[in-house]
Amino acid sequence: MLSASDTMAVFLRLLALLMAVVLPVSFAWAAQHDPVKPASTETAKEAVRVCTKCHDESEEKPILAILKTKHAMMADKRTPFADEACITCHGPSEEHLVKPPEGEKPALPDITFKEEAPISSTKKNEVCLSCHESGLRLHWKGSQHEFRGLACSSCHNVHVDQDPTLVRLTQPETCFNCHKEQRAQAYRPSRHPIREGKVVCSDCHNPHGSTGPKQLAKNSVNETCYACHYEKRGPFLWEHAPARDDCTNCHKPHGSIHPALLKNRGPWLCQQCHLAQFHPSTAYSGTGIPPRGAAQQLLGKNCLNCHSQVHGSNHPSGIRLTR
Ligand code: HEC
Ligand code: HEC
Ligand code: HEC
Ligand code: HEC
Ligand code: HEC
Ligand code: HEC
Ligand code: HEC
Ligand code: HEC
Ligand code: HEC
Ligand code: HEC
Repeated sequence: MLSASDTMAVFLRLLALLMAVVLPVSFAWAAQHDPVKPASTETAKEAVRVCTKCHDESEEKPILAILKTKHAMMADKRTPFADEACITCHGPSEEHLVKPPEGEKPALPDITFKEEAPISSTKKNEVCLSCHESGLRLHWKGSQHEFRGLACSSCHNVHVDQDPTLVRLTQPETCFNCHKEQRAQAYRPSRHPIREGKVVCSDCHNPHGSTGPKQLAKNSVNETCYACHYEKRGPFLWEHAPARDDCTNCHKPHGSIHPALLKNRGPWLCQQCHLAQFHPSTAYSGTGIPPRGAAQQLLGKNCLNCHSQVHGSNHPSGIRLTR
């Protein structure tokens, strides 16, 4: 059995050992980071001071630009810098603060966001979601991007003046990094003005996840398109079933080699669904004899020459979508 004074002696020896191996800086900082003490501007400033002793603008990837962003608004109680600044996102990282032996690297901070970091995306994302779970992120859990192991930092860059993903002109580049097919489509002759930043991916998609298919911003393809092409919503006296059903029956959303973002040209587009029943709808070949009532001259012409109102018609006699 140890006496009370023996216990005290062991404790003191341990304490001395601790002070010898742990850098004074971390010790001073640990004292500041007393968990029972409410966060204050002072703790935040001290944390910044501790970290910026080593991390500054001279690094390969300078990090201090964060001080100019919304995250660094100390006056805004919701921000990391109103809390514990760097360590709100990177964790207390006490081992990281211990000076490594000559020529060796320090232990990693508790939370690092690099692709190859030894912690899971889920862990990284918990940091951000602790403040950003609502709003656009309501359906992050279960989204394709979450399922495929993306981290918030796969798209967002918090250590720069302006996150390129939030700027319309540069946002597509973020997405194109992984979505090569959509990049190719955005360079086709007929396309949404995505590269010009007039229409961006996030106009149609919520990359954080949504209740619609394919992470669409709205619940369906058509609702998404109506947001800008509201005249196509109708109501129409004479509807064309496929337009009411899904715009992608005829259009490609990102880009196409055919005009007006169409999936196919002229009669072939229509002949995916319409067969030569009432009047021949196959190209004129000179072989088949058209059924009664069909005029020779319409054969092989683009159906749109006559059926111009393919999205629906409001003309009293527009039943065949001709006016
Ligand atoms: C004693 C100097 C020193 C202090 C103080 C320090 N760091 Fe570091 N930190 C380093 C060095 C050196 C590296 C590079 C390690 C490497 O290249 O593997 C580094 C790397 C990092 C990285 C990148 C890790 C990675 O590879 O993903 C982060 C993040 C980081 N530090 C955050 C912090 C934070 C937050 C603080 C304050 C709590 C802090 N550091 C304090 C020296 C320090
Ligand atoms: C809002 C959360 C957040 C805060 C606050 C924050 N960081 Fe970071 N830090 C990140 C993320 C995310 C990355 C990954 C790269 C990126 O997104 O810019 C990162 C990367 C780093 C890196 C590695 C840079 C590299 O890629 O080589 C260092 C070093 C670093 N942070 C230090 C700090 C320091 C020092 C502070 C305080 C002044 C701080 N961080 C505050 C989230 C944060
Ligand atoms: C302690 C809470 C907190 C944490 C943790 C946090 N944020 Fe934020 N973030 C905020 C607040 C507050 C704002 C400002 C919101 C506003 O002004 O409406 C913000 C703004 C943003 C913005 C918009 C910036 C802009 O210029 O409009 C992005 C993007 C963002 N955060 C991403 C992240 C990512 C990624 C992480 C994790 C690496 C993260 N945040 C961690 C609180 C936090
Ligand atoms: C696949 C890319 C991608 C991923 C992954 C991603 N974001 Fe975003 N984020 C965006 C885009 C694009 C915008 C701009 C959306 C807009 O303008 O409608 C955005 C906007 C934001 C904003 C600012 C707008 C707002 O809602 O206030 C915040 C905050 C944000 N993201 C946080 C996060 C967090 C937290 C995560 C991780 C859970 C995350 N993001 C993951 C692409 C992404
Ligand atoms: C005008 C609206 C619109 C814009 C802008 C848009 N998309 Fe889409 N996207 C859609 C629709 C609608 C679908 C679903 C129909 C389809 O698969 O063709 C889709 C599907 C996708 C798919 C899934 C494809 C598949 O086959 O499963 C990806 C990936 C995608 N979009 C990425 C992007 C990226 C990246 C951008 C920005 C460069 C972008 N989208 C811009 C409307 C849009
Ligand atoms: C780090 C890589 C990466 C980045 C960056 C990225 N994505 Fe994705 N995205 C994926 C993966 C992986 C999938 C799932 C497999 C697939 O469909 O290609 C996916 C799927 C999608 C889908 C289809 C979702 C579904 O339900 O089928 C859409 C839409 C999409 N991404 C849009 C975007 C947009 C918009 C951006 C930019 C804001 C973006 N992605 C950035 C990797 C990425
Ligand atoms: C954010 C607004 C927006 C959304 C959402 C949107 N569009 Fe567009 N759309 C535009 C703009 C802008 C143009 C280009 C108009 C111009 O150049 O005069 C355009 C052009 C078009 C064109 C004509 C292209 C051409 O080459 O003539 C078609 C077809 C089209 N959109 C279909 C769709 C479909 C289908 C959807 C839903 C998947 C959709 N749009 C969603 C803004 C939008
Ligand atoms: C049955 C096939 C079909 C469907 C379904 C369809 N479109 Fe079209 N769309 C066309 C054709 C064909 C053109 C070319 C018209 C022309 O050249 O006069 C076109 C042209 C357009 C244009 C550019 C010219 C204009 O009229 O403004 C827009 C925008 C457009 N469609 C949006 C939509 C939207 C939004 C939907 C879904 C509600 C949709 N389309 C569904 C066949 C279709
Ligand atoms: C995805 C299949 C599909 C495509 C593609 C399609 N349609 Fe239709 N169309 C239909 C359906 C379904 C109806 C409704 C038939 C009914 O009510 O009996 C219809 C009805 C019509 C009608 C009215 C017929 C009537 O009996 O009143 C015309 C005209 C028409 N389509 C022309 C076109 C033209 C022109 C194109 C090409 C631009 C086209 N359609 C492309 C499926 C399609
Ligand atoms: C020269 C003009 C013209 C061209 C070109 C044309 N149509 Fe028609 N189509 C008509 C007229 C007029 C009617 C309606 C006849 C009536 O109401 O008695 C009609 C009727 C229809 C109907 C309704 C049939 C029914 O049973 O009620 C469909 C479907 C149709 N056309 C599809 C097409 C398709 C698909 C093409 C292209 C392959 C096409 N049309 C090309 C003039 C044309």
